[in-house]
Amino acid sequence: MPPETMLSQGVSVSKVITKEELCLFEQVAPACGIIIFGASGDLTHRKLLPSLFALAQENLLPKQFYILGLARSPMSDSDFQAKVLDSLGQAATAAARQDFVRHCGYLAGEYQDSKTYEGLRQRLGGLDGIYETSGRHLFYLSTPPSLYETIAAQLGQSGFADSRNPEAWIRIVIEKPFGSSLATAEQLNLSLHRVFREKQIYRIDHYLGKETVQNILMFRFANAIYEPVWNNHYIDQVQITAAESAGVEHRAGYYEQAGALRDMFQNHLFQLLSLIAMEPPASLAADAVRDEKSKVLASLSFPKGCDWQDGVVRGQYAAGAVDDEVVPGYRQEPGVKPISTIETYAALKLEIDNWRWHGVPFYLRSGKRMPARTTDIRVVFKHVPTSIFQPLLADQISPNILHFRIQPDEGIALRFEAKHPGPKLCMSSVTMHFDYEDAFGIRPPEAYARLFHDVMVGDQTLFSRQDWLSHSWRFLDPILECWAKEKEAGLAFYPAGSWGPAEADDLLQKDGRQWLTT
Ligand SMILES: NC(=O)c1ccc[n+]([C@@H]2O[C@H](COP(=O)([O-])OP(=O)(O)OC[C@H]3O[C@@H](n4cnc5c(N)ncnc54)[C@H](OP(=O)(O)O)[C@@H]3O)[C@@H](O)[C@H]2O)c1
Repeated sequence: MPPETMLSQGVSVSKVITKEELCLFEQVAPACGIIIFGASGDLTHRKLLPSLFALAQENLLPKQFYILGLARSPMSDSDFQAKVLDSLGQAATAAARQDFVRHCGYLAGEYQDSKTYEGLRQRLGGLDGIYETSGRHLFYLSTPPSLYETIAAQLGQSGFADSRNPEAWIRIVIEKPFGSSLATAEQLNLSLHRVFREKQIYRIDHYLGKETVQNILMFRFANAIYEPVWNNHYIDQVQITAAESAGVEHRAGYYEQAGALRDMFQNHLFQLLSLIAMEPPASLAADAVRDEKSKVLASLSFPKGCDWQDGVVRGQYAAGAVDDEVVPGYRQEPGVKPISTIETYAALKLEIDNWRWHGVPFYLRSGKRMPARTTDIRVVFKHVPTSIFQPLLADQISPNILHFRIQPDEGIALRFEAKHPGPKLCMSSVTMHFDYEDAFGIRPPEAYARLFHDVMVGDQTLFSRQDWLSHSWRFLDPILECWAKEKEAGLAFYPAGSWGPAEADDLLQKDGRQWLTT
């Protein structure tokens, strides 16, 4: 009787079995002042303040710290403190929340007005004395990006970028987007560098603060078994997906200028690509890691054009249904132009032209209004070279797949073949799972907490360096320019609630492959 394959998903759950934790040296942040520009905004309240509080609960904030919010909205210290309290929700105890809030204050002012910075000087002078910060200041720009250059210039003119105190440090954190093209990114870098040295600049990409993203480094370089097969001899393809089920929501103003390529690829997806594809760094030192990440982007082959046959897909969601709810198309969303050609979906087939990856396609896609919110990486290995399980041929036996679940359900799974129990010779694909919550008993912490701590201890490893950014824009610019010229031609519509336009499927089918979604 001929053997048969069964593609059922047998499941085997793995548990953490380490004898003890091996921890790298954990630095304690010194006393410092955190100054948040745009403190009345959404990011400050949803992410920044709760993350700082979480750090305080972990004893990773220095005992002596203060947070000074700055924005145009008129507010007193106590108004701001009430907002801070609100943003902490029910985290920890009421006493802990009250204690944290006592460290918070507020200053109202126009960002381009020198008087604001005069007020800031007076305020910081007093706070630095009380909290004994020795002039250590972390400036966090959580404003619209159009204000970054103005604020940096004002900080420079007012003498906030340098200190004569040898114990002081001054660091500036800026949020994405870092420009909208190579020219604007380089202009922004130039403006920042007029005031700050690269060592002082922390370009934040919160994806890099995620445990699952940091774990790519541990997985690849703290285990001996993967590195020997991590190349074009064993790997057939890599797929990276960042899908959102939400639409544009209230962000049309920003998104109409951005689109999926600028919003997701330039930063998050290219960061994941860099970590998966980089060479082992010489050490975990910030620049050693960032050197290797930069080389990945520098080795990307440029597509010949901006059509799906060139490996570039541009899509926009039309009306459809997500989770059984009928939703409008992108062009019908509030604040969106009825003839908008902004892409809410993009897919790229990338080739990294180096010895390790030559010939291995990297398929990246990201879109809004997909069936699920998920970010993951799938490393698909080659088929076995020959089959001893005749008459099954080698390419009828499912290949191994390593599946990094970045969010949600954070974890890693490995798919492999196993004999199905019974007298017949059958094989099934089974999956070995590692689940963060299951293994460690805790939910992965908020990404911003880790990143704040890194800024305070001066570790730039998880922040984007100027040359990496330039490489990313250098690659994306020709595609964006081509799309701008083509306008609607080549824009593929997909129903909300689907995995994207048919052209994205064609892109893989042309190579005899398909997107992996389950
Ligand atoms: N929200 C997120 O989840 C998220 C995620 C990733 C990156 N980011 C980035 O983080 C930064 C802050 O995001 P956000 O969502 O908090 O922004 P936001 O709420 O739109 O703005 C932050 C603050 O900036 C001030 N502001 C807004 N528009 C202004 C204008 N036209 N001129 C001068 N001041 C203005 C407002 O404060 P006042 O009016 O009181 O001055 C506002 O409270 C942005 O660069 C954004 O791209 C945000």
